[in-house]
This record gives sequence, structure tokens and C-alpha cells, in this order.
Amino acid sequence: MAQHDPFPLFPPIRPEWKAISKSWGHPFHPMCSYMAMFPPRILHYFIQRFTRPGDRVLDPFSGRGTTPTQACVEERIGIANDLNPLAYMLSRAKVDPPDMQTALDRLAELERDFREWDDANSNKLDPVHPVRIVFDPFTLSQLLYLRSVLTDSREDIFIKATILGILHGKYRRNGNDSIYLSVDMPNTFSMSPGYIQRYVAENSLEYLPLDVFEKTRLRIGHLYRKGKPNVSGKAFQLDARQLHKVISSDSIQLVVSSPPYLKVIKYGLYNWIRLWFMDLELEEVDGHLDDGHDLPAYLGFMVEVIQQLERLLKPGGVAALVIGDVAQKGNSPLNLSAAVWQAAKSRTNLTLLDIVSDAIAASSKVTKIWNETRGRATAVDRILVLCKGKSPTVNHPTVTW
Ligand SMILES: C[S@@+](CC[C@H](N)C(=O)[O-])C[C@H]1O[C@@H](n2cnc3c(N)ncnc32)[C@H](O)[C@@H]1O
Repeated sequence: MAQHDPFPLFPPIRPEWKAISKSWGHPFHPMCSYMAMFPPRILHYFIQRFTRPGDRVLDPFSGRGTTPTQACVEERIGIANDLNPLAYMLSRAKVDPPDMQTALDRLAELERDFREWDDANSNKLDPVHPVRIVFDPFTLSQLLYLRSVLTDSREDIFIKATILGILHGKYRRNGNDSIYLSVDMPNTFSMSPGYIQRYVAENSLEYLPLDVFEKTRLRIGHLYRKGKPNVSGKAFQLDARQLHKVISSDSIQLVVSSPPYLKVIKYGLYNWIRLWFMDLELEEVDGHLDDGHDLPAYLGFMVEVIQQLERLLKPGGVAALVIGDVAQKGNSPLNLSAAVWQAAKSRTNLTLLDIVSDAIAASSKVTKIWNETRGRATAVDRILVLCKGKSPTVNHPTVTW
């Protein structure tokens, strides 16, 4: 608890989510991997403690949509925003999904039409286009077709996001195909075309003619195995500092977010295969995001973000910002969340409730969390917890898992 806070939170915020499996949560969460994503267990904690059903929960940097999806699962209204078109697509698919049968019917319709699709279309692709080394020609022709016909409708966005999640990944250990559509390669990021070429040659990898419709159908069944969230949300693709244009002031009960850090993550370059499927150029992603600032520019950016959150939060609403410590050459790591608060505190009326260290070993038992294991913790992430007004209007004492 921050020393100067005259309104201590009871019970204090502790990272009890660390004792819960990282894979905890609704099957929609792992639909597609995304760099710097956080696990849904942390959302459950904040949603349960600081909101009631029907409240609006926002993530202004939603990535693959973990915060708004968990909010919808827990019958709150999840609101996503991310400037990266890939993140926007994934977030939108999850917070506003179609019924499973609607998605499957649409996929069947697309499959029927593919049979009549002019095969010559696949030859329109540049013969040396780098995606040719990622997929077997049959798989590629289906992907080219889908890429050209999928629309912006709810079911098409869901199908597109599902395909983005299975677009590339590892074969099974025995060398057979897996859920993925590519030659054997990592799922989390796209290796460079040159690397893939060498890797395929050195390991004598075979290209398998994998059926996109079949794999997508199976994947949709898997994603809906627990049904869809009862509540739908909304997704936006704006600079986080511009959200007042689409969200009313004083309307958000909770924000949980991990803003960009002081590290350059090339979301475009490292996702070039996914961007190809979305028909986007790398430049439409890299160069637009606020993840490459130096420290002063970053702090200025975060002050503006915090001012924006102050405007959007309801009185008594809470914002929890996950901000990692940052390594510094020749120095101990920088406590970036403390630096952000230092820069923001004289320029916002939000109150600091706590800076929680999210650094307890994942194997710890809940009961042991703040006794034996605490001293051994290594600080990695911290959560800056802010409130509009002096204390949260909703603060349920316990969270059940
Ligand atoms: C650390 S990631 C968030 C990951 C997310 N918590 C998840 O679990 O997937 C930070 C996100 O901020 C987005 N971003 C960077 N600058 C932005 C800006 N000015 N406005 C909105 N989003 C931005 C990036 O595209 C990235 O998705």
C-alpha cells in the first residue's frame, strides 16, 4: 500500500492470480497469439473486486483483447481499443462474436463458392512472393481466395481472426500436421522469409496440402466448446489518447491494461504473414505505435494516457496499468511504473491506490503468497492502481476462482 494514501484499501491488492494457471479462462482467449499479451487470470481478479455485472470495462491498449473478452465472459461490457489493425481485428472478433452455427454456415458457404473460384486467381500472386515458402500451393490458393472474399461482417471477422490464429505454427512431434496451416515454424511470430527457406532446406521439411476450411471448422468448434460470452462488447481502432471521441466521460468502471513499454516491438515485421493475410503493409503497423519512445517521450505519452483515463472513468472507478520494469545498461532495472506515476501525479486528479509487484513465482500456493515466497520474488511487472476520487465505489473483499 502506498504510504501516503489516507484511504487504505482493505483487503490490499495482492497478486493472488499468480497461483492460478496461465491457461485459466475462456477458450476464446488463446485464439491467436500476440506479443506482450497478459494472462486472463489477472483480469478476473480486478473485474471481481472492482466491478459489478453490467459495468463497462475498458482496455485502451487491448492487444488480442484479453481484458474486454474476460469482461464479457463475466457479464460486464468489454470495450477494446488498439491502434494496431491486427490487435483491433482480434479484439473485435472476441467481443462481438457470431453464434457458432452462423460462423460455421458462413464457412460452408465460402467453401462451396471456392470450388467455383477461378483457379487462375492464385497465379496472380507474384511468383516469388515470400508467402509461397510458408504454405503448400493448395493451402495457399484457399488462403488467397479467403483473403479476397472475406468481408467486414461479424462472422467474417470471426473467421478471419480464427484463421490468423492457426495461420502458422509447429507440426506435431511425429512430423504430422497440427492445427496450423503452414510448413513447420513458430506460432507466436513470423520468422523472416530467408530464415524459413534455410530452415525448410536444412530440415528437409515437406509441404502438406492442408485444407483451410477443414482446419478452420475444427478450430471454431474448439473455440466455442464453452459457448460464447453472454455479453457483447465493442472495439475501436484509435490512438488511446483519442478515446473521448467515442466513449462518454464518466462512463468506465474499470480499466485494466498493459500499455506499450519502453521497448520497440515490431508488431508489423514480426507478424508479416498475418498482415499478408489481412492485406496490410508492414508500414501500416510499424511506425504508428507508441512503443519506441525514449524515456522522456514515453513519460509524456503516459501522462496524456492517464489524463484520458481520468476523463473516461466514473467517479470511484479504478485503472490498473501493468507496466514492466525495464533493464538499463550498467544500472539496476528501472521501476517504470513508479517513474510514470512520478511524472503524472501533479497532472492528474487520480489517486494512487497502490503499486503492486506482480512478481511471485507462478507455482506458489494462494495461501503462501504473501508469507514465505514474498522475499524471494524477482520484480518484473508492477501494476499501477489508480482511482478516480479517493476510493473505489466497488471493492468486493474476496475473489473466488
Ligand atoms: C503490451 S501490448 C498489450 C497486450 C494486451 N494486454 C494483450 O494481452 O494482448 C500494448 C499494445 O498497445 C498498442 N498501442 C501502441 N501504441 C498505441 C496507441 N497510441 N494507441 C492505442 N494502442 C497503442 C500496441 O498495438 C499493443 O497492442
